[in-house]
Amino acid sequence: MQPSQPTPLNENYLRDDVKSPEREDLLSSLPSEEGWFQTSLRLYRGFWLPSRHLNGVVACQNHFQAHPSDILLVTSPKCGTTWLKAILFALLNRAEYSDSNPQQRHPLLTQNPHDLVPFLEIRLYLQNKNPDLTAFTSPRLLATHLPYSLLPRSVRDSNCKLVYLCRNPKDTFISMWHHFNKLRPEERGQVPLLERLDKFCRDVSGYGPYWDHVLGYHKASSEMPEKVLFVKYEEMKADPSVQVRRLADFIGRPFIEEELRNGTVEGILRMCSFDNLSALEVNRSGKLPSGIENKWFFRKGEAGDWVNYMSAEMGERIDGVMEEKWHGSGLKF
Ligand code: A3P
Repeated sequence: MQPSQPTPLNENYLRDDVKSPEREDLLSSLPSEEGWFQTSLRLYRGFWLPSRHLNGVVACQNHFQAHPSDILLVTSPKCGTTWLKAILFALLNRAEYSDSNPQQRHPLLTQNPHDLVPFLEIRLYLQNKNPDLTAFTSPRLLATHLPYSLLPRSVRDSNCKLVYLCRNPKDTFISMWHHFNKLRPEERGQVPLLERLDKFCRDVSGYGPYWDHVLGYHKASSEMPEKVLFVKYEEMKADPSVQVRRLADFIGRPFIEEELRNGTVEGILRMCSFDNLSALEVNRSGKLPSGIENKWFFRKGEAGDWVNYMSAEMGERIDGVMEEKWHGSGLKF
């Protein structure tokens, strides 16, 4: 079980114009690009990170001590993090909240997955340079957007497990576009799609280059399949029950025969489905401590929605970069 009440974040979380001396020192030395919203992106060791997350990234790298039993969900933004947080949480806690224990109300019914499975660099280590994580019982379920090469050393060196979820870059890009349109003040209008596509293809996106993020974990998963599980959003959509069993095996909580017979897999999928989660009051009207509305994490939840927003030519542009960057890796969407 995870701690249920996150400490509220600084109210200036979404703003980039509020100065912190430590951040200023680090920022002044890094190349910068305009971000999607109020924050700029900074090139930090080969990846474009939102400047408002940099303190959290550095603190996490310096202080986070992985335990061998830890399970870390890793994603790029808008790849389906919210869904997988819910599924992993439900998988790990299924004994406590089973049908045979009806008096225990499932935490996913009243809390957003991002509150139950917090991000390291965006939540825990941004709020506090060295947070007290003792309230997390083992195995700790945590999340990060960090690329493989930027993970805290203890994560790479310990036997903890990483579940990496990625998504077709065209859908990821469009999902990101929608998300940042919501964050933008209405008077500024929509984020210009073509301009952003250009940046995305030039490697500039939050936690990107997207291609390098995916490639780093793909390589790690090929070399250490017992440590890194590589999952695609599209596979989750196409055959969720196979993928949930794969996830359960990987985190060391395989389904027993009785669970397979009594519909536990289907129950978890129902609980974590787009329709169920997005209809819950907490996800309709709640907010994260950062001020981001929970409902913004639930838009359509489909594979292939990019065709409704991008021309074939724009899609081909992303395909071209994908082919070039992933050439020889066996990776494709
Ligand atoms: P769309 O914008 O394409 O709908 P993240 O959680 O990493 O921010 O990703 C958000 C994306 O995951 C959004 O994609 C969102 O709708 C989708 N999503 C959220 N919950 C989901 C669920 N339970 N099942 C499938 N997709 C989900």
